[in-house]
Amino acid sequence: MQIFESIKSIQAFLSVKKQQGCSIGFVPTMGALHQGHLTLIERAKTDNDVVVCSIYVNPTQFNNTFDLEKYPRNVDRDKILLENAECDVLFYPSDEIMYPEGKDDSMKLDFGALDKVLEGEFRPGHFSGVGLILSKFFHIVSADSVYFGQKDLQQCSIVQKLIDTLFFDIQLVVVPTVREKSGLAMSSRNARLSNEGKEVAANLYETLMKVREMLQNGEDLNKAKQTGINSIKKYKEIQLEYLEVVDRKSFTQATGNTSKKEIAICVAAFIEGVRLIDNVLVFS
Ligand code: PAF
Repeated sequence: MQIFESIKSIQAFLSVKKQQGCSIGFVPTMGALHQGHLTLIERAKTDNDVVVCSIYVNPTQFNNTFDLEKYPRNVDRDKILLENAECDVLFYPSDEIMYPEGKDDSMKLDFGALDKVLEGEFRPGHFSGVGLILSKFFHIVSADSVYFGQKDLQQCSIVQKLIDTLFFDIQLVVVPTVREKSGLAMSSRNARLSNEGKEVAANLYETLMKVREMLQNGEDLNKAKQTGINSIKKYKEIQLEYLEVVDRKSFTQATGNTSKKEIAICVAAFIEGVRLIDNVLVFS
């Protein structure tokens, strides 16, 4: 695997590959890699000639400095995992490379209604930071396709809007969430949970599946949602931030009869001080 830390060096390498007619698949990450990331790499390898993974903990998407400081980092282990997954290129830039003028959050991206709800509401500025760093990466890597996990479903809609609005010539591929045996969605943040915390966290997925089943059986939307909220509130170890039933693309609240609509059930909660998110689609 080739490892590049500067923009010039990765661009020189990739421009040769492009001249040779290679397609490029891009997997942006913040490191602390797990099977979810490796599944994205695997899919990118199936679809492309060259796979680029980036590892960069982007400061402008953290609205909470504690969360940024505590974000798990283990780049030596990540490099081994990427080697084993036969990833072709790792882009591992420093803060100085990505933000040469310092943590520049003076440039804001506004995604309209999409970033005012759920993750956007509870993490103000988060999606602006995600949009900013991905715009930089898309210019640097100029890949054919970019791969994201469904776990970050709202981020996927944000990325699609970024691509459409700024005319990035890149295709978004969304890959299903990879889960532990318990159902817990894989996340770099799980590394901060104790074993008991992980066990409790599995109840988030169980609850999502319960609400999903109720909606599939034609149960009233508010009743299904409230059942989900109540079942999470039974656990004193879980501090629920939201559980919402939304349109899977616009993230507006689902209303009325949900049958045949593209609906997602989304949840965010703290367990042992760690913020976790998850979602399931109702009719797929
Ligand atoms: O999903 C993530 O890991 C991050 O938000 C991303 C897309 C790598 C941008 O920093």
